[in-house]
Amino acid sequence: MRKIVLFIATSIDGFIAGKNGDTDWLYTDGDFGYKEFYDSIDTTIMGYNTYYFIKQFKQFPYPDKKNYVFSRSNRKPDGNPIEIIFSDVVEFTRELRSRKGRNIWLVGGSQINSMLINAGLIDEMIISIHPVALGQGIKLFKEDDLRNFQFKLVKHQVFERGLVQLTYDNI
Ligand SMILES: NC(=O)c1ccc[n+]([C@@H]2O[C@H](COP(=O)([O-])OP(=O)(O)OC[C@H]3O[C@@H](n4cnc5c(N)ncnc54)[C@H](OP(=O)(O)O)[C@@H]3O)[C@@H](O)[C@H]2O)c1
Repeated sequence: MRKIVLFIATSIDGFIAGKNGDTDWLYTDGDFGYKEFYDSIDTTIMGYNTYYFIKQFKQFPYPDKKNYVFSRSNRKPDGNPIEIIFSDVVEFTRELRSRKGRNIWLVGGSQINSMLINAGLIDEMIISIHPVALGQGIKLFKEDDLRNFQFKLVKHQVFERGLVQLTYDNI
């Protein structure tokens, strides 16, 4: 079966964005395994807040993928190659995973990550820990929702810039 893979960057203290949603602390001067990972997926899923951040880029970054954005609000199509999903996040994702295809990238953010980990729908996590402490911000998982899950470390990679990439499988 295809896998749902959370490929994401965090600070040392476990934040995916600063308190105002800022991500200017992320290293952009290297690939850090991105291309290889990008080629392994054919679909992305994300929450609307993450999409809102992404749509401010000059160009939509995943034009050749099928992109699903979860929302509970009255969001409208905006010209980017995305489909807004108003149905149940967990049910939709479970059904998507059961379809044939390459792996699915769970882009984030915190709210959607929590929902999917709690539903046992994160098969693999590739977490790039940046050598930066933010003190406050948006956590990798929305803390008050998170249950206790065990993952197995299957790979680790250290980049010269000081970034450490950890790959975990769901067990
Ligand atoms: N460091 C990284 O690699 C990385 C990666 C991804 C994201 N981020 C950052 O993470 C932040 C966003 O994370 P977040 O936790 O605030 O938001 P999020 O999980 O990206 O999206 C939350 C939104 O998803 C929708 N949603 C939530 N629950 C839902 C449900 N049950 N059914 C349907 N839709 C639902 C809602 O959209 P509506 O408001 O439209 O209803 C909600 O506002 C951004 O700052 C982004 O830059 C960082």
